[in-house]
Amino acid sequence: MSEPNIKREGFSSGLAVFFATLGSAVGLGNIWKFPYLTGANGGGAFLLIYFICIVCVGVPVMVSEFYIGRRTRKNAVGSFKVLTGNPGTPWKGIGLMGVAAAYLIMFFYSDVAGWVYFYCFKAFTGQLAGITKDAVGPMFGQVIGAGTAGQPLSAATLSPLVWQVIVMTVVGTILSMGVRGGIERITKTLMPLLFLLIIICDIRALTLPGAGKGIDFLFHVDFSKITAPVILSALGLAFFKLSLGMGTMITYGSYFTDDNHMIQTAGKVAASDTLVSMLAGLAIFPTVFSFGMEPSAGPGLLFMTIPLVFNQMPFGGILLACFFLLTCFAATTAMLSLVEVPIAYFVEELKVSRVKATVFNCVLIALVGITATLSVDSSSYLGQYKFFGKGFFDLYDYLSSNIILPLGGLCIALFVGYCNKKEDIADELSNHGTLANAATVDAYRFIIRFVSPALLILVFLNSVGILKF
Ligand code: PHE
Repeated sequence: MSEPNIKREGFSSGLAVFFATLGSAVGLGNIWKFPYLTGANGGGAFLLIYFICIVCVGVPVMVSEFYIGRRTRKNAVGSFKVLTGNPGTPWKGIGLMGVAAAYLIMFFYSDVAGWVYFYCFKAFTGQLAGITKDAVGPMFGQVIGAGTAGQPLSAATLSPLVWQVIVMTVVGTILSMGVRGGIERITKTLMPLLFLLIIICDIRALTLPGAGKGIDFLFHVDFSKITAPVILSALGLAFFKLSLGMGTMITYGSYFTDDNHMIQTAGKVAASDTLVSMLAGLAIFPTVFSFGMEPSAGPGLLFMTIPLVFNQMPFGGILLACFFLLTCFAATTAMLSLVEVPIAYFVEELKVSRVKATVFNCVLIALVGITATLSVDSSSYLGQYKFFGKGFFDLYDYLSSNIILPLGGLCIALFVGYCNKKEDIADELSNHGTLANAATVDAYRFIIRFVSPALLILVFLNSVGILKF
């Protein structure tokens, strides 16, 4: 099925495949979104639903994306052309939608990553040392500081833009080094380090007085909290967390080794990603509760509470710097996978060189990303411009996460489930018959045809407001 293409790069080993894919899944979503949503939605009960979503939708859609990518060895758009044997196939719209989603996510993700880089810089240069409760708010305001509507931009309010450019320069530099020299080398080094750093943070957090309350908050199962919106928000989080529905895993799947056991890889990545999220929760909540702080502060939880909390501990300065460093790692490796979607598309479909494609895409993201950075809230420089009641920042987030990802995931499930031959799927997922996994493949196919689409239709209808629970 795959065209001979000796020039096409790929990951060198099973370990490289695992770390690169995990590097995509683990991102800003793990460090604050997962613990915050888990806490806000009933703790253990939400976790239970999230696990079910990962098994019933996340892993099957991930396997489907791997299948599409490795079977064709093509980017998110070209893969549909190859699989259908029709260059004009309407299914390639899924890939084009994925490229669009990658841009939309990057416009605001690069902004948030800029805040993380800035905090990391501040932590390492000692600027967060001894910061007081009254100072963390203004500090956060200065970091996200997106100017004021109707006032000229000052040099100070431009700092988030400068950090956004720094983020895109780092991401672009790594990506221009290629799949093996860039993505593989960086994720293989950073991912194990991330685990190490987060475990150090956990040990400190879990040995604080009163840490038990935080653990309780995270794991207490209250079944009365399981409502339809909670189930749907767990499903949506599973999607964003595992980088699904927009061609990232198709693109990475196209770089997989021939002997990779893709069902196992999907299971291991989903389990490890969930583990990182839990470890992040175990670093944050016991600490927050031990110091009597507010657990449901959202983005502020990470950027305002954590500096304050770590400052009050022995070795707090070093731990704080480590914490932001690992958040930088997580955000950077996730962004590599986001920008790789348009890069692979440009290189293979539009025949542009990798370096040119990287420069073009990173500059485009940094430029359009300015609109997100200057519209963080209504009082921001561009805050008065609203589309469907949302500023640029929220609009990019809403359109990508709530509309394109669930729709893309649904289309991918339907495409693989109903438009691909059973034998082709079995052949690819068993590595041409070398793996004895027929029963697993059958179970996968059943889920992808019936269970996942049903759940995805529910989440999608809820996202666009057609169906309200
Ligand atoms: N999974 C990443 C995170 O948790 C975000 C992401 C979404 C990355 C979609 C790639 C594609 O932060």
